[in-house]
Amino acid sequence: MGHRSALLLAVVLAVGCSHETRSLETFEPGPFAPDGGSPDGPRDPMLAFGQALFFDPELSGNRNISCGTCHVPFLTTAEGIPLSLGEGATELGQFRTRNDGAVIRRHALDLFHRVEMDVLFWDGRVERLPSGEVVGPVPTPPEVTRALELASIVPLLDRDEMLGQPGDVASDGRPNELAMISDEQPRVIWAAIVERLRQHPEYDTLFVRAFGLDPSQMSIGHVAIALSHFQEVLWGPRGETLDPLLEAETARGRALFEGDGGCTRCHSGDLFTDQRFHDIAVPQLGPELDLGRFEVTGVEPDRFAFRTPPLRNVGITPPYMHNGAFETLEDAVRHHIDPVRSLRSYTGAHLSPTLRATLRNDPATLDAIEANLDPATAPLRTLSEDEVRFIVTFLRSLSNPQEMTRHPEDALPVSVPSGLPVDRWNGTRHPFR
Ligand code: HEC
Ligand code: HEC
Repeated sequence: MGHRSALLLAVVLAVGCSHETRSLETFEPGPFAPDGGSPDGPRDPMLAFGQALFFDPELSGNRNISCGTCHVPFLTTAEGIPLSLGEGATELGQFRTRNDGAVIRRHALDLFHRVEMDVLFWDGRVERLPSGEVVGPVPTPPEVTRALELASIVPLLDRDEMLGQPGDVASDGRPNELAMISDEQPRVIWAAIVERLRQHPEYDTLFVRAFGLDPSQMSIGHVAIALSHFQEVLWGPRGETLDPLLEAETARGRALFEGDGGCTRCHSGDLFTDQRFHDIAVPQLGPELDLGRFEVTGVEPDRFAFRTPPLRNVGITPPYMHNGAFETLEDAVRHHIDPVRSLRSYTGAHLSPTLRATLRNDPATLDAIEANLDPATAPLRTLSEDEVRFIVTFLRSLSNPQEMTRHPEDALPVSVPSGLPVDRWNGTRHPFR
């Protein structure tokens, strides 16, 4: 899916990353090889297994998409586009067209620090309860103990993201046997994915090294653990982000964020999220109405409520909100200042015409979004333009270059056990632009 790379490059340039970034067009695989280990660390067999799984399209029904296709490994761990492109999709116009690929109705989340979180996805459909039990829309495999582990195998079951549709033919001409299994049988789909892995002796080897078990014992729970471990090593916390010698403007921004801005009412704690759900009147955009948390709980106050996003490294992950409605950090912050006015005046002028055409700004929808607005969204007093700028400066200071992988290209393996091609982001233009 090289069409995404032009945008990524734009993001890289916009961020002005201080460390060396190679042109994505001349991208070469990095020293992270499937035999495990990083250049500056000991060999880590779990990392090797997780890395292979994260980039292998073999895990997708049509063998055409991997986690790394949407969660671009270097720099952002997400996509620089408003809505995510699902399996087989190359254009925004392809909304859930059978056999043709689909556009996902949500913006791909970044994966920074997710191992520390108990509530995952925009609607929190995977959660680790205070009791320690991990619950989600599907049965939790016995090996799973963390929210990130379960969240890592849920995308495999999503027909638009990775699974495909009944009757699809995979990229290598074989039938998509995974997509023939009913959605009511997630465990059977998972088992069939493990079956696929077992066809490649290299996966048996990676599994044995990582878990010390007989290959016949490989299960989706092990896949979940390895995928989670990979994300933790690559994008987990590394070093202190907050500079104790904050520049004056950053320090003022932080004081506003915690004070009159009222931001910490929701963006609280170490990751700047309460891991709870709020309707903050983000415009509705995309192939279908997105009721957010309501779709999980069916409880009225959850209508149009989405999980407060964590803000670590937020400066490098545009666009923003559950559907990428806002292109810049400034716009995302400004929206909070007067959410209803922002909702009602939003035209999506910066969006591509196809995406803009999906904007739902009819009075009934606007009223419904406004009706559920969390009254605690707006700041405690009106903020000046300068003050908004200070807050944005503070948010940008939450980017930790050390967390953007040790070398930009590190995470991409040279090859994956299935032998299928690994997405290299080789430079065609993205259809959203
Ligand atoms: C088609 C693009 C696509 C693919 C492929 C994909 N994801 Fe995602 N990912 C998304 C989108 C979009 C979201 C947000 C969806 C939502 O919240 O409903 C997301 C959310 C997540 C989250 C939750 C993060 C958070 O902040 O709560 C995790 C973890 C994750 N993906 C991991 C994976 C893993 C592991 C794979 C491979 C097995 C994968 N994804 C494959 C697009 C994709
Ligand atoms: C009432 C809770 C609440 C308050 C108060 C709040 N936010 Fe948010 N914020 C959210 C939620 C929820 C979202 C995601 C909404 C969505 O996608 O529909 C969000 C999104 C964001 C985003 C986009 C992040 C991303 O990755 O997409 C930024 C940036 C942000 N908020 C900054 C701020 C700042 C700065 C303040 C203070 C001026 C603030 N927020 C106050 C709940 C809140």
